[in-house]
Amino acid sequence: MVQLPEFPWDTLAGAKARASEHPGGLVDLSVGSPVDPTPPLLQQALREATDAHGYPTNWGTPEARRAIVDWFRRVRGVPGLDDANVLVTVGSKELVAGLPQQLGLGTGDAVVHPAVAYPTYDIGARMAGATPVRADDPDDWPAATRLVWLNSPSNPTGDVLGVEVLRRVVHAARERGIVVASDECYALLPWEVEAAPSILDPRVTDGDIGGLLAVYSLSKQSNLAGYRAAFVAGDAAVVQRVLAVRKHLGLMAPSPVQHALAVALGDLVHVDAQRERYRARRALLLPALRERGFAVSSDAGLYLWATDGTDALAQVDRLAELGILVAPGTFYGDPTHVRVAITASDDDIAAAAARLRG
Ligand SMILES: Cc1ncc(COP(=O)(O)O)c(C=O)c1O
Repeated sequence: MVQLPEFPWDTLAGAKARASEHPGGLVDLSVGSPVDPTPPLLQQALREATDAHGYPTNWGTPEARRAIVDWFRRVRGVPGLDDANVLVTVGSKELVAGLPQQLGLGTGDAVVHPAVAYPTYDIGARMAGATPVRADDPDDWPAATRLVWLNSPSNPTGDVLGVEVLRRVVHAARERGIVVASDECYALLPWEVEAAPSILDPRVTDGDIGGLLAVYSLSKQSNLAGYRAAFVAGDAAVVQRVLAVRKHLGLMAPSPVQHALAVALGDLVHVDAQRERYRARRALLLPALRERGFAVSSDAGLYLWATDGTDALAQVDRLAELGILVAPGTFYGDPTHVRVAITASDDDIAAAAARLRG
């Protein structure tokens, strides 16, 4: 039987209880769940599609697939995809957790993911019976590697992989017949970089997307986490193999959600507005953490990756004293940092900044 670790956030109960004792109340910056309303345009799109008497297709509705293809061309600089290259998923976490199995990987296979990473890459490898391996450099990929996960911008570090780094990964993977899946859900939240290129960008691929997948989610950029709206795009052979398995598993996004997804991809106004909300929150919180003695990095995405040089759990406790709950780096494979989410209300972010300065 596959043994999974305890769900990381369940282990924060003690720190949460302590932080909740703060007279000003708890400011929870330990998770990346959006707090702002789903844009009215997208709520309306969902309402428009409530007659959903038939099964949706596992692949995605033609409308959703078209919207994904167009979005990659317009927004991510990836031309030339068509229907066969894209697949709608039920949020992206299920795909991250299921991809190794859906690719047919198992015992004896290695799944590489970033050294400091969102925990679900590891879980997905374990669920398939494969071996998860932390490695950032292609020279460190074991011989048994069949799948490599990238995550740019990174949760939790905010690091962004540039075109040259991506090219090196693609080249190494191609030589060895390895699938590369790049989780890019924070791509439209760049702060200190101009942009976060997609693995499917022609500057990376030279026009050959063989063996490559880009995974994307509208949870964060469109405040749609509750809708479970996401997709994967890339090599048609890989996408169709995954689709064939998903048909057997009954993994299909509800059709009203797929309509909302298509509408969301066609509108950049709400994405820009949400990005500016996060920009303002980051601008409050980041300097306050630095003034408190934390070194902070955050090139892109929704997290400040911070350290005061002590042990991660001690830092969680230190911030809990201020009524601020954060996630220890141990959740991601780094015992020296904490992850501070900027996904809290303006009031909560302002309260956290004031307490850090106090
Ligand atoms: C790197 C990364 N990938 C995937 C996900 C899953 O997002 P969702 O399942 O909401 O699409 C998250 C959520 O926090 C994430 O940080």
